[in-house]
Amino acid sequence: MKPTKILFVCLGNICRSPAAEGVMKSLAKGFPIEIQSAGTAGYHIGELPDIRMRSHSHKRGYELVSRAQQFDPLIHFEMFDHIIAMDGNNLRDLKSMDQHKKYQHKLSLMIDYSQIMNVKEVPDPYYGGPAGFEHVLDILEDACAGLLKKLKAG
Ligand code: 4NP
Repeated sequence: MKPTKILFVCLGNICRSPAAEGVMKSLAKGFPIEIQSAGTAGYHIGELPDIRMRSHSHKRGYELVSRAQQFDPLIHFEMFDHIIAMDGNNLRDLKSMDQHKKYQHKLSLMIDYSQIMNVKEVPDPYYGGPAGFEHVLDILEDACAGLLKKLKAG
């Protein structure tokens, strides 16, 4: 079976989307899936995820080892089956990079897959405290489980 290719996208690719990548890789073990993450901005290209995100994730059993990359419309729209944005700004930016409106069907928001958490987006934890990182992980665990369920249902 050909693996489903998923790209999680946030702004910096050092907090939310690498955490989504780590959570989903752990949940989807054994399921034919390929997962990466990217940022709409290039501030942190090549960096490991933020130490705070790595530490909060580690406590829940997720090791975040990806290196930040910037979303490239010339490569990533074609490469991935599902491109999943963390917040409304990320989604808007992705939509605007799809100049010929060819890939809109691949785009969605992470919270579209939420099952329990009733939130509007995965909020940026970068300028906040520890509770923000825990909140992000709560949202991601719930939504990644929902996403996997959807993928398994076909
Ligand atoms: P992320 O968080 O989009 O979840 O990776 C951020 C990381 C860095 C910055 C903003 C948000 N920054 O402005 O550098």
